[in-house]
Amino acid sequence: MSTPQLNIVILAAGKGTRMYSSLPKVLHEIGGISMLERVIHTAQSLNPDSISVVIGHGKDIVRQRIHAPVNWIEQTQQLGTGHALKMALPHLAPQGKTLVLYGDVPLIDQQTLQDLLNVAGNDIGLLTDVLDNPSGYGRIIRQQGHVVAIIEEKDASAAEKAITETNTGIFVLPNHKLPTWLNALQNHNAQQEYYLTDVIALAQQDHIPVHPLQVRASYLAAGVNNKLQLAQLERILQQQQATELMQAGVTLRDPARFDLRGTINHGQDVIIDINVVLEGEVKLGDNVTIGANCVIKNSVIGTGTTILPNSHLDNCSIGNHAQIGPFARLRPQAQLGDNVHIGNFVEVKNSTIGTGSKANHLTYLGDTSIGEHSNIGAGTITCNYDGVKKHRTQIGNRVRIGSGNMLVAPLIIGDRATTGAGSTITHNCPPDQLTLARSRQKTITEWVRPEAEKTE
Ligand code: UD1
Ligand code: MG
Repeated sequence: MSTPQLNIVILAAGKGTRMYSSLPKVLHEIGGISMLERVIHTAQSLNPDSISVVIGHGKDIVRQRIHAPVNWIEQTQQLGTGHALKMALPHLAPQGKTLVLYGDVPLIDQQTLQDLLNVAGNDIGLLTDVLDNPSGYGRIIRQQGHVVAIIEEKDASAAEKAITETNTGIFVLPNHKLPTWLNALQNHNAQQEYYLTDVIALAQQDHIPVHPLQVRASYLAAGVNNKLQLAQLERILQQQQATELMQAGVTLRDPARFDLRGTINHGQDVIIDINVVLEGEVKLGDNVTIGANCVIKNSVIGTGTTILPNSHLDNCSIGNHAQIGPFARLRPQAQLGDNVHIGNFVEVKNSTIGTGSKANHLTYLGDTSIGEHSNIGAGTITCNYDGVKKHRTQIGNRVRIGSGNMLVAPLIIGDRATTGAGSTITHNCPPDQLTLARSRQKTITEWVRPEAEKTE
């Protein structure tokens, strides 16, 4: 016998009016990942037979931004949650179950959903929460302990509004009943919407029991309607991520001042000072230390390397025992070897720097390759752009570039070459030689300095 079908439908067609944003609500990010992507990832973790996402407002931009193997279903008019699920009917198996999720409930986790599927069996599973302030939510109506209906806030009597047990919106429903139930929904209610919640009353008539499961923490089922709720869930997620990292041995100087917007892979004895933001995929070797106020995105940092405060790293790789910053900027394709030193106000882009080479002060290195144990003097600039094309600068091993050099690419500087301070180098430099490219200093003795006339 084949395993019963599991279909998942994510409702995400709503406008999100209270976000006051041109971006569709479900594309707003938590921990650097859009809310809808988070829900899709969690849905995927259950290995369902299908995932369908119902979209409406901002559907084009949602589809452009999210590349996931899901059925995209358009709901042209937002006539209610019941109507939204009805749009997905053609994608649901005749047997098995459908799990309904919301695109704006981003922190729902696999465990909760698995538990809900288990309690549902072949009947209905309903994820509930008990809230101090239930206002705005559908209330769970029980008779002799059994769930018999859900009443929306706007349709509720004063007595019903006093109920604190609420509907999170997350359901497991039996597929074989869905066509009948969804087609039977009426919109005779305060909002003139087709409420998915009304299937509970219909299930009563069909003697299909409802198995409620109370969510183990409210944030798991919390929806985002405005920027305040978005920020609250962001903090909860960040706190959790920080906790997990500390439990795995990472030293966070202050877990409340650490933000991970993506994933981190780390070794032992990693130390992260305050106000560090890690984005995308970041890999930190053993004994890496990151100073305060660093932003590091999609980068790999080798064992024993120190990133000093206020450095910005984007899509770069750094070897072992290197020292970067303070105030360094490593742009995409900066590839630094072991023991490299990059100091303050040094910008590196699309360049490889070999073992033990140093650029310690006020320098731009773009489209450059530097061999091993070379030193780039303070204030040096690789002039890589002629206004139309980018050109490469190749610097060999054990080269010493003097301070304040303009290295006009394309250029090859041989091994062990030295250039004089203040040189504008426009031609290749031979190995082992000193090259100077600047005018000789002279003093003009007969020169008279202009002075403003005195008015008194
Ligand atoms: C819904 C529930 C309510 C529950 C609450 C939890 C209903 C009738 N009410 O109310 O019991 O307490 O969620 O947050 O289900 N959507 C569509 N198409 C539509 C309407 C909604 O895709 O036509 C999507 C929205 O984008 C959203 C979700 O469904 O992701 C919920 O819609 P929303 O309007 O927020 O429902 P609530 O009024 O909050
Ligand atoms: Mg809502």
